[in-house]
Amino acid sequence: QSTLALADALPKAELHMHLEGSLEPEMMFALARRNGVDLPYADEEALRQAYQFNNLQEFLDLYYSGMSVLQTEQDFYDLTWAYLERCQADNVIHTEVFFDPQAHLERGVAFGTQFEGIYRALSDGRDKLGISFRLILSFLRHLSEESAFETLELAMPYLDRIDGVGLDSSEMGHPPDKFERVFRRCRELGLKVTAHAGEEGPPDYVWQAINQLEIQRIDHGNRALEDEALTALIAEKGLTLTVCPLSNLRLCVIDSLADHPLTTMLDKGLHVTLNSDDPAYFGGYVNANFHAMIEHLHLTPEQVVQLARNSFEGSWLSDADKQAAL
Ligand code: HPA
Ligand code: ZN
Repeated sequence: QSTLALADALPKAELHMHLEGSLEPEMMFALARRNGVDLPYADEEALRQAYQFNNLQEFLDLYYSGMSVLQTEQDFYDLTWAYLERCQADNVIHTEVFFDPQAHLERGVAFGTQFEGIYRALSDGRDKLGISFRLILSFLRHLSEESAFETLELAMPYLDRIDGVGLDSSEMGHPPDKFERVFRRCRELGLKVTAHAGEEGPPDYVWQAINQLEIQRIDHGNRALEDEALTALIAEKGLTLTVCPLSNLRLCVIDSLADHPLTTMLDKGLHVTLNSDDPAYFGGYVNANFHAMIEHLHLTPEQVVQLARNSFEGSWLSDADKQAAL
């Protein structure tokens, strides 16, 4: 009980959250009405009923169709603001969020429309709610490296307000090395880099993310544990893993929350953090992920404090700001 209250009360950072994955059914319907989009569901409840996934791809199919209601700058603002209010409720005082520009460009929504709506909300969140942020442009790995380069070109005018790049979407069959050149270019431009790896994909994809993409964090990373040398390397390098328990459960990466490898990761000295990934689809925001792990893995108060510390240490805050938060 008190461990749950401790988790709620601690200031935390979130390092793995897709803004489009925070689109709650109520807002999806509201934006559909506002933009004259027809949704293939009778109501919010029917939509929620459809959130039953056997794997990552089944989720992604709904995720990409759901985000089709996002069309105007105000839509992106409203989406981002609603997420920031959830941060405030959960004592998340710093957040590093992904957005998927290619998924909106494909629907004819300009990069600047997406970006300005998101950025204005993040700035308001900083000024009015005291929540600091980093913004991460995520490339879709099921598309080509050429498409990623084109997206980077569109992002050029905004790069002074974009902190890093990521790599998400369908993992199997789209290994990190497919994006080696575009990630090198991003690093040369001074962007931070992270990538989803080892969520469904094998340890080899995590090796590639480290060695070929030179990532500064690993998003998910669950399957790295299958490889002892890889696990040792991640520990030695002090690479942060952004772990998402409720996502893992809903995408069948694990069979039950009691089977989650979080405590194994902690015991092996990995710098793990808890995150919500796509909270509107997976059943909860940051505190819900802490609660799930406390209840099913019986985390100690010390482990909960460690996870909160890790979230700041693994963030892209300046060293001075990290010290202030810790
Ligand atoms: N994995 C890969 N791609 C994604 C995810 C995820 O968990 N969420 C949104 N895009
Ligand atoms: Zn993710």
